[in-house]
Amino acid sequence: MVATLITFLTMVSAADSCPVSTKTVIKVERCPKTEKEWMERAKRKNCETYASLCDEPVKLKYHCVINAFVGLIEVCAYEQAIVNGHCTEYSKSGNLIQGSQNITCYNFTNNYCPLYYPSTEAYKYPECYEHIKKMIQEAAQNSEESSSPLVQTTASNILHEKKENKCGINIANVPVIVLSVVIARKILP
Ligand SMILES: *[C@@H]1O[C@H](CO)[C@@H](O)[C@H](O)[C@H]1NC(C)=O
Ligand SMILES: *[C@@H]1O[C@H](CO)[C@@H](O)[C@H](O)[C@H]1NC(C)=O
Repeated sequence: MVATLITFLTMVSAADSCPVSTKTVIKVERCPKTEKEWMERAKRKNCETYASLCDEPVKLKYHCVINAFVGLIEVCAYEQAIVNGHCTEYSKSGNLIQGSQNITCYNFTNNYCPLYYPSTEAYKYPECYEHIKKMIQEAAQNSEESSSPLVQTTASNILHEKKENKCGINIANVPVIVLSVVIARKILP
């Protein structure tokens, strides 16, 4: 039973990914936006040299796709069918090409994607590339704002100083304040 399960799981993972893919991942600044450029870059990356290390060598293909954490990457990985109008991404944890969970392309204004397309045609939907760049930029800005030590220190110093000043003034003026309160109580009903 367990052996059957393990065999089954091995078959599933063999169908989706090739271990060598992880070694071919590199971060890039931009991805091809035409078939011609995709072919040229594919030729340069030469995924065929790794194909013999895979169970299904013919499925190992050049990809330039989005990655949720890195941005854009080039990788030699098994070609997948991308369904439901999502952008194509490479998942590092699963070591496979898949539809992006968070970024859809069926509703892009220009070059929107169909409900089904092969992952090797990701270049047809370049807005996916722009999208991930923007998302990563925004995430970086947000984390900068929430954890900038310089700004926080300065702000807390100012607060601290203000508090001290206030205390000093308050203590010096305690009799005046008490008197004012007493007078106010007497004057106001
Ligand atoms: C997708 O979006 C959800 C909710 O906005 C977020 O928690 C999650 O980290 C995102 N996943 C990726 C891979 O960016
Ligand atoms: C497309 O739809 C998704 C939700 O289904 C939304 O999060 C996204 O902002 C939309 N994109 C555009 C370009 O309208």
